[in-house]
Amino acid sequence: MQRHLTPLDHFIINADRSLNTLFGETRTSDRAYPAADKTSDTLSESEQQHAAGLMRINHAGEVAAQGLYQGQALTAKLPEVRQQMEHAAAEENDHLDWCNRRLQELQSHTSHLSPLWYSGSFALGALAGLAGDKWSLGFVAETEKQVVKHLEGHFTSLPEEDQRSLAILQQMQADESQHAQAAVEAGGAELPWPVRKLMGLTSEIMTRTAYKW
Ligand SMILES: [Fe+2]
Ligand SMILES: [Fe+2]
Repeated sequence: MQRHLTPLDHFIINADRSLNTLFGETRTSDRAYPAADKTSDTLSESEQQHAAGLMRINHAGEVAAQGLYQGQALTAKLPEVRQQMEHAAAEENDHLDWCNRRLQELQSHTSHLSPLWYSGSFALGALAGLAGDKWSLGFVAETEKQVVKHLEGHFTSLPEEDQRSLAILQQMQADESQHAQAAVEAGGAELPWPVRKLMGLTSEIMTRTAYKW
């Protein structure tokens, strides 16, 4: 029998997840590392730095995704919605782990501003959850759509030889596209244009900042 979780239980679960996202080992699924059978060993130093900048952006995006999903899970009303958010958040753990691993391979680091990306997104997610499930799901759908588009840009911006990063981003894109579709099918409404625009601008700022920091 499933135990009923109180708001305090949810709070503690979320706090634990937040700490794991920021400081700990992430709990991943048993999917294989997409880069495992790819090579990228001919990168020049500047190419390696550029690839690391891009992967740092994607890692920051995944930290933000964790914040969004976990914030929403805290305030979403319908149990199915909450469950769906948590399922997607679990899949994002793989992405977080893969980006982290690739950054280590590129001898680089994750964004120093991760706590900021996480807390800002957590607040946004919680707000979206409070706005009601159709908006909350619409917010997920729009976020994921924007990420799919953003990843498309990285496919061409990555150094051509960096097949390892590419394999990771391709798998991530396939997952994000599924998350978007699932959110629409679950009843996500299309967000008003100003909100979509604002979301785009926010991720633009994050993208520019996380490339370096
Ligand atoms: Fe993701
Ligand atoms: Fe996603």
